[in-house]
Amino acid sequence: MTKSRSRFSYPTRAAFLGTLFAVLLAAFPLARMSAAQDATPMAGQAGITSESWGESDGEDVTLYTLTNANGMEVKITNYGGIITSVVVPDRDGNMEDVTLGFTTLDEYLEGHPYFGNITGRYANRIARGTFDIDDEKFYLALNNGPNTLHGGEKGFDKQVWAAEEVSGEGEVGVKLSRVSPDMEEGYPGNLDVDVTYTLTDNDEIRIDYHATTDEPTHVNLTNHAYWNLAGEGSGSTDNHELTLMASNYTPVDENLIPTGEIAPVAGTPFDFTTPHPIGERVRDDFDQLVLGHGYDHNFVLDRESPDDTTLMVAARVVEPESGRTLEISTTEPGIQFYSGNFLDATEVGASGKMYRQGDGFALETQHYPNSPNEPGFPSTLLEPDEEFNSTTVYAFSVS
Ligand code: GLA
Repeated sequence: MTKSRSRFSYPTRAAFLGTLFAVLLAAFPLARMSAAQDATPMAGQAGITSESWGESDGEDVTLYTLTNANGMEVKITNYGGIITSVVVPDRDGNMEDVTLGFTTLDEYLEGHPYFGNITGRYANRIARGTFDIDDEKFYLALNNGPNTLHGGEKGFDKQVWAAEEVSGEGEVGVKLSRVSPDMEEGYPGNLDVDVTYTLTDNDEIRIDYHATTDEPTHVNLTNHAYWNLAGEGSGSTDNHELTLMASNYTPVDENLIPTGEIAPVAGTPFDFTTPHPIGERVRDDFDQLVLGHGYDHNFVLDRESPDDTTLMVAARVVEPESGRTLEISTTEPGIQFYSGNFLDATEVGASGKMYRQGDGFALETQHYPNSPNEPGFPSTLLEPDEEFNSTTVYAFSVS
């Protein structure tokens, strides 16, 4: 006897499913509307939904909600490419938003310490806001004491990006793009840039950065998400156990500009080559911690060679109470570990709690700060015949 895969023969089953579908459509007009319009998923289903989120300088802003097959949900807006919310389960399945941020565009427009945004054209600091390319001197907007920080006064974090939904097998995504015009914030060259955010069914957020230029320029792109794996607004992240695949870091001066030295972390509070709670040594009387008001340093990832751009695990963070775990992989040579030192209770986040010092931390995959002025650092120069490509993956799990 052959085994039947179904109790119904094909025509009977098709007729039955057809009737069931018709009944469901009649019963749920909303589902019918979205199915007819653009296959927009219903809340909780894998897919992308979008909503109008207001305006910035007369340009329409949209908020996208990406949901994967496991119910993980990520919200991204095309204003600054900000990840506004990342909802993931703990080891008992309880869902929390683990990234610092707001629920309305207006709160972002009022200003914020780079919550979840694309950071560019040059993430991190450039000393005295200047560099030379081929004997020509360029002067950038100074927005951090004597330095340029995170692209200047109106960096990529404050721009409205063109957005397009992109989806593939087992993943949903949004591609953001814009042309940063020649001399924007003082940077030479028209930079054609796109940043694609993808949420996979493996509970990963992948960010692919791509850029080309028509004149030599310096490019360093990252995302500035702050994390609190116990849930944003839940207090200090001191207990989060951090591992960084970095045997060296770049010490800084009093303006947080690297001195140029590549120093070993061994024997210092900067040694995260084995897991350590963030708060364990952050208050140590160690000159680099004093200068940084905590950790605010670039870690040099342990790569085979300076040209190695394979995707490597750079950081792992475990929040022991919830078991939530974040693993960050990147093609970049460095990662800035910033322990939220300047969070000063001036921002009230999505859950209605104010953010105090250390209530979130950032791990910014990047080229080293001030590379345009440090010939010994991996170069950030992009030439017209080259392509800038960079990928960072944030993988969530529980342990
Ligand atoms: C980066 C910098 C910090 C700080 C934050 C934003 O991580 O390194 O010094 O400027 O951004 O507040």
